[in-house]
Amino acid sequence: MTTVSGRIGRATAVPGPQPLDPRRIRVEFPVFDDDPDLVFLDSAASAQKPRAVIDGLAAFYRSDYANVHRGVYRLSQRSTDLFEEAREKVRAYLNAADRDEIVFVRNTTEAINLVAWSWGEAFVKTGDEVLITDLEHHSNLVPWQMLCERVGARLVVAPTDATGEFDLAQFEARLSPRTRMVAVTQLSNVTGAVLPVARIVELAHSAGAKILIDGSQAAPRMPVDVTALGCDFYAFTGHKVYGPTGIGVLYGRRALLEAMPPWQTGGGMIEEVTYPKTTFQGPPHRFEAGTPDIAGAVGLGHALDFVERLGRDCILAHETALTDYAVRLLSQISGLRVLPAGQRQLAVVSFNLDGVHPHDVGTVLDQHNVAVRVGHHCAQPLMDKLGLAGTVRASFGVYNDEADVDALVRAIEAAKEMFR
Ligand code: ALA
Repeated sequence: MTTVSGRIGRATAVPGPQPLDPRRIRVEFPVFDDDPDLVFLDSAASAQKPRAVIDGLAAFYRSDYANVHRGVYRLSQRSTDLFEEAREKVRAYLNAADRDEIVFVRNTTEAINLVAWSWGEAFVKTGDEVLITDLEHHSNLVPWQMLCERVGARLVVAPTDATGEFDLAQFEARLSPRTRMVAVTQLSNVTGAVLPVARIVELAHSAGAKILIDGSQAAPRMPVDVTALGCDFYAFTGHKVYGPTGIGVLYGRRALLEAMPPWQTGGGMIEEVTYPKTTFQGPPHRFEAGTPDIAGAVGLGHALDFVERLGRDCILAHETALTDYAVRLLSQISGLRVLPAGQRQLAVVSFNLDGVHPHDVGTVLDQHNVAVRVGHHCAQPLMDKLGLAGTVRASFGVYNDEADVDALVRAIEAAKEMFR
């Protein structure tokens, strides 16, 4: 329990995060009806879908579906209302100031490409710099690398230290008056390191740079408040937050979105088209050319409702404890090395077994019905720095508990035995 001052000035007890009960939560995920023994440890790649999302999608297609923003008939208006309600749910989820700051895209990758092309081409010039970290997923690296190639700018990389901790001093040393954009992940999909994004935003802004946060891994499990953070852009994807694939979100500060030219053009984003010239709608529609993933947005709304019902504080507390448990148990296995993640690690644990290729480990784990991801996790420069071909990665969702970690440990022991 924590205490807060009530209106009459007395300390009032309020409940802290309530413990999650993953075994009860699993009942809401039909994948476990089909395979109750599945140990699913790959939510960082994509989370499983709760009934509320699956049924919500089906109900929408059955009863409320039509194209949006185009029809005068009631069915289309209902569909449009549900689509825009989903935008409002995303706004509330991120605590953005305004619904128009929420752009629907396909996924985080598309959100970052949108910023790199639209904002980047307009505002990054020859001699400028884009600063990223060495923990970035390719989707928060390659779009900036290509922008730099196109405009003659320089990609600068801030490193983590040997303990896996993001090095703020090294980051600060790489900020300069030439830095136009800082693009960082909030939670590494490889090591599980949580980055101090509030401080990074302050430092970026004090250097005069804009900042984009890749929230792919953080948004499903941490409270996010873009207004309090003061970031310029925030991106996340629907399928990792228990929603459908094919839908993602770009949050952008309104003034920035308004100053950005369209990226993709076509239907739905214009104001007036004549042969000599076209004028464009304001954000967010300016950035949503063509028929959007209407059902995806509605499904994302159901997914956010599901997460909010559990409570992100509670998810954070549960997954923090589970991560600590996993790191402790895995670290006790001889011949196994856990990738260090610094002081704060959440929901992702990467490791290697001495002398065994990660793919071989993953294959044996699968024989024990333990699903993990193996490989470079779309972070090849990080693997190069660590001198690794890849890792085995276990990652958690709201349906995982200590029994899943225990099953992972048993499967690893079996793999060790097999490759002895
Ligand atoms: N970005 C996803 C992962 O880390 C696909 O697995």
